[in-house]
Amino acid sequence: MKEAIEKITAELEELKCATRKEVEEARVRFLGRKGEVTALFEQFRTVAPEQKREFGKKLNELKQAVTARIEALKDSVEESVSASGPSEDLTMPGDPFPLGSRHPVSIVREQIVDIFRKFGYDVAEGPEIEDDYHVFEALNFPQNHPARDMQDTFFVSTGHVNPLLLRTHTSSVQVREMESKSLPIRVICPGRVFRNEAISARAHCIFHQVEGLYIDKGVTFADLKQAILLFAREMFGSDTQIRMRPSYFPFTEPSSEVDVSCNICHGKGCNICKGTGWLEILGCGMVDPNVLEASGIDSKVYSGFAFGMGIERIAMLKWQVNDLRHYFENDMRFLREFDTATEV
Ligand code: DAH
Repeated sequence: MKEAIEKITAELEELKCATRKEVEEARVRFLGRKGEVTALFEQFRTVAPEQKREFGKKLNELKQAVTARIEALKDSVEESVSASGPSEDLTMPGDPFPLGSRHPVSIVREQIVDIFRKFGYDVAEGPEIEDDYHVFEALNFPQNHPARDMQDTFFVSTGHVNPLLLRTHTSSVQVREMESKSLPIRVICPGRVFRNEAISARAHCIFHQVEGLYIDKGVTFADLKQAILLFAREMFGSDTQIRMRPSYFPFTEPSSEVDVSCNICHGKGCNICKGTGWLEILGCGMVDPNVLEASGIDSKVYSGFAFGMGIERIAMLKWQVNDLRHYFENDMRFLREFDTATEV
């Protein structure tokens, strides 16, 4: 046993390690479960009782020496690793991670806003919880007017003269603009609207609109037609045609609904346009003098036009989405189709 202890002590002095792996191998070789020092401790049981004291001391000293030497080797390996710099290559490109994508309704809203910004329109927003006055009364829908039935309304509070409700259209924002801004006004109002509709492929209780309003001296129906034509060509392509059909809205006179030539069949007739060659995109008209006067604008001096369109509808026409519910269900398979984001 004496020779074995001396042999290990001598080897210990010679021991050199260059890597963490070599240090670990040395530790296992001496101190591991089947290591040389561990084996000596096993043998110690067979040592004669009168020698136990001497060898016990020697063995403990040996174990301490081995442990200290391995610790020292470990420290010097660590030092040389950190002195030679990090082992990772910091110039390697990072791991790519998937980015989310914009919702189709946001994409189209931004396109509509950008087009009208180019035409010189400002952007305005108003409250989603509105009062009856701004949604109906000031827009020429008096109490009990049958046209109120066109827009099934969620009331928040009832029973008093000006109840609160969830706005059924963004036309309420044009009233707020007329009340608060100086003339001329040229503004678009994007926003969320609410109607008490049964949810189906063609209707939803929440959707989005963009309202437009232009008021100045001498604004005519020809200006309205030109604004809508330019918008339609920016949105659906430069060969797009429009047609205006007479319609009715309480807040415009005359009123019109606008169709664009079908961007799929280019007017020949297909299942998207139901064989007609035309797709309805918005409602519009000349602002009714009653509406101007209600907001304190002199209708003998000023005139204007307004229009309103559904963002989901424009997006459906642009991408041939056949069910409105897709916009609100957050099905990743649908949303990924609009993924314009690239991985970094
Ligand atoms: N507010 C109408 C709706 O929600 C859309 C509309 C039609 C807005 C004609 C207008 C307009 O400004 O002139 O159905």
